[in-house]
Amino acid sequence: MSHHHNRATFGSKIGVILATVGCAVGLGNIWRFPYMVGSNGGAAFLLIYIICIILLGLPVMITEFFIGRHSRKNAAGAFKVMAPGTKWSLIGYNGVLAAFLILGFYSVVAGWTLEYIMQALDGSLTGKTAAEFKLDFEQFSSGIVRPIGWTIAFIALTHIIIISGVKEGIERASKIMMPMLFLILIALCIRSVTLPNAEKGLAFLFNPDFSKISSSVVLSAMGQAFFSLSIGMGCLITYSSYFKKDTKLQTTALQVTVLDTLVAILAGVMIFPAVFSFGIAPTAGPELVFITLPNVFEQLPFGWIWSTVFFVLLALAALTSTISLHEVATAYVHEEYHISRKKAAWFVSGGVLTLGILSSLSFSVLKEFTIGGLIFFDALDYLTAKIMLPLGGMLICIFVGTRVDRKILKAELTNEGTVPFHFFNTYAFFMKYIAPVAIGLIFLNELGLINR
Ligand code: PHE
Repeated sequence: MSHHHNRATFGSKIGVILATVGCAVGLGNIWRFPYMVGSNGGAAFLLIYIICIILLGLPVMITEFFIGRHSRKNAAGAFKVMAPGTKWSLIGYNGVLAAFLILGFYSVVAGWTLEYIMQALDGSLTGKTAAEFKLDFEQFSSGIVRPIGWTIAFIALTHIIIISGVKEGIERASKIMMPMLFLILIALCIRSVTLPNAEKGLAFLFNPDFSKISSSVVLSAMGQAFFSLSIGMGCLITYSSYFKKDTKLQTTALQVTVLDTLVAILAGVMIFPAVFSFGIAPTAGPELVFITLPNVFEQLPFGWIWSTVFFVLLALAALTSTISLHEVATAYVHEEYHISRKKAAWFVSGGVLTLGILSSLSFSVLKEFTIGGLIFFDALDYLTAKIMLPLGGMLICIFVGTRVDRKILKAELTNEGTVPFHFFNTYAFFMKYIAPVAIGLIFLNELGLINR
């Protein structure tokens, strides 16, 4: 088809990996994962999380890569080409909507990282106790002008990269940022495990207490797996639509999954020893990273340099994810409404800005305004991670499992038979049966529809 020829692609193999890893690795790994582990009982959560990654994450990711590269379309357009005139494109709209909603709270946290960079640079993080860090965070996040200002700044940064295009913007930015992130994480893990009482933190992370497992822990672990791998909402459909014909889909999926999980575990190793060493509650929630790590940096010579570097990298990891989320919505508006990429990006940024301001304000003036007992920020997080992404993933599997000819599926995943796929039948079985049924059961269980 002729429209395939002038569609953008990533330039190099390493660019493909780093952009996709950049999309997956972000605040979900370093900010959300540790506090999810902390508030869901530690190692038992980690165990279920890893099971979800293998049973659900990997099959869904490979399936999204299939859809993206096969159709070479945005998240909604893909279903329109593959199943014209059917309701399957609703999966795509669910994804585009999820991208907006995730950006609506994600850009607020991304904004917080900018505030912490500034505080590290001007010395405000120096010489404080653990209690003071907590108080400071609460005062800052419940303010109005500063957190909103930083949210706007972060959306603006994202916007600039998006309008620079796929290769020059997304790929180039990821190539520089992701390797740096790895190095600094490893350095900080080493510092953390050598703190006094570090073994308590490691035990919390790695010694499962099975009595802690409940239906809500399972739902949280599944939500975290989808959120962290960026699956279920078409982000990977969009990115893989920029893959080249010779990109190895299975290898890429495996590499992205392993790296993403590794970064999350490293983040846990970095945080929990410090949590126990400084007597911070692991259940602190969204503020956990922001109140724990400054304590660690304080223990180091030139603490402010460590803090600055860490928060810069956290901001960069967030940025490679916000651009991927923005891209889902921008590619959709651009291709489906036939308006220029620039205009589409403005439209998306405007919508995200509105949601971002509302979720930032939900820590202050909108605190009383709750949805199902959750403030707006938490409601966006819950709705996307625990409902929209798993639901999207389930439907993606059902769609490919029932509507796509196995031969076409296999041809795409093996690059027309040039790359072996030894576990193709296992993969297909998991994709068609195990993943959708497991996700369905977890939903029913959480709703209380299954006897416990
Ligand atoms: N996976 C990203 C993270 O862990 C968040 C994200 C979710 C990005 C969905 C894109 C799509 O930070």
